[in-house]
Amino acid sequence: MKINAAKGTRDILPEETAIWQEVERIFADTCELFQYGELRLPTFEHTEIFQRGVGDTTDIVQKEMYTFDDKAGRSLTLRPEGTAGAVRAFIENGMASRPFPVKLYYILNLFRYENVQKGRYREFHQLGLEAFGSAPPELYAEIIALLQQIFDRLGLKNTSLRLNSLGTADSRADYTLVLKDYYKPHLSGLCRDCQSRYEANPLRLLDCKVEHDQAIAADAPLMFDHLNAEDRAHFDRVCELLEAWDISYVIDKRIVRGLDYYSRTVFEFVSDNVGTQGTICGGGRYDGLVQALGGSSVPACGFALGQERLMLEMQAQGIVPDPKKKPGLYIASLDKAALDYASDLAIQLRRQGTPAAFDLVGRSLKAQMKYAGKSAYAYSMVLGSDEIAANKARLRRLSDGSENDVDLNDLDGIQALIARGE
Ligand code: HAM
Repeated sequence: MKINAAKGTRDILPEETAIWQEVERIFADTCELFQYGELRLPTFEHTEIFQRGVGDTTDIVQKEMYTFDDKAGRSLTLRPEGTAGAVRAFIENGMASRPFPVKLYYILNLFRYENVQKGRYREFHQLGLEAFGSAPPELYAEIIALLQQIFDRLGLKNTSLRLNSLGTADSRADYTLVLKDYYKPHLSGLCRDCQSRYEANPLRLLDCKVEHDQAIAADAPLMFDHLNAEDRAHFDRVCELLEAWDISYVIDKRIVRGLDYYSRTVFEFVSDNVGTQGTICGGGRYDGLVQALGGSSVPACGFALGQERLMLEMQAQGIVPDPKKKPGLYIASLDKAALDYASDLAIQLRRQGTPAAFDLVGRSLKAQMKYAGKSAYAYSMVLGSDEIAANKARLRRLSDGSENDVDLNDLDGIQALIARGE
């Protein structure tokens, strides 16, 4: 019986991978430009990292994690996001003793048990970064500039940057009282989740997906209107820098983010093209997380770009990256001796960096030529006893059939013709 990929997961085939690699290359290249180094993280962590990191009362931790016990009875979880693991790695590897800011980027597959729909999968990918050790707003504004540069390099237009501030723990504590006062008369009508959120984590009330509760959330007082002077000054400076760098934004006081670790400025990039899940990228400051996970008090911020959603958006905007493939040569052979010669030639050309292939499935000459025409090779040549005896062959450009005589001993000459596209 045929078994398909698990729900919410998918295969990425080579023709698509080329575009994925191009997007990843632009992301990594831009991160390097801003002096970020790549962090590679384990696929699973101790469950507690996410419970303490992302927050016990978030949907991610309560409903969406792939958690299992290993054979020794440890509770482990497939990473549902990258930040908590990055913070764990930052602490565990003593990175707090490196010169600040410590700048890390990552390309990860992640796992969340979600309702599958367009732009929302159970295994998905993020291009993300985290920067540690800088409290002033400049680094924060810089990560938004980095993201904008990625969008510009990809040719992405009309994505809307939305900013909000969630305040620090102190200002949030005062606001929480105001929020609870507002919700009190509505409490009995709220969904069960919200009833427990009311005590455990009132800010999450604003993030409820139930229609009735969303209507109540719509009129709720907002954190942004209750920021203290310091939080507000921090936020205003981020805005000032973005304006100075010509990065447009709107203030969206309703952003709460789905993870608990944020403080002060948070942001999302949204678009109408990626289904109901319009958020392509989310990020913010999380000044308390390093300490909450057992490290010293180190301010930090970061973002993660959903790779599938980014690529849906690119598709909707008609952006098809064109990863340049090196032109290569298919060497057809007439008989066994020519096949030996062709294989040797292909091996040598590849050693020198030119893509090359010979017959690997015992095709007739006609079938070999048909295959070459359909393949990604830009050139072909046919080898038989005459060519081998004379050390000469005809190099054929498949796009238009034009031909050049080449000396089979002159590998450099053959490669130069191919590289020049002649
Ligand atoms: P997040 O908002 O949960 O933030 O996810 C970031 C992005 O990942 C989303 O904007 C979306 O594009 C993508 N994403 C999330 N869930 C799915 C899914 N089920 N299917 C497809 N794409 C999805 C975080 O994960 C934070 N760690 C971001 C961050 C880094 N904050 C600070 N540093």
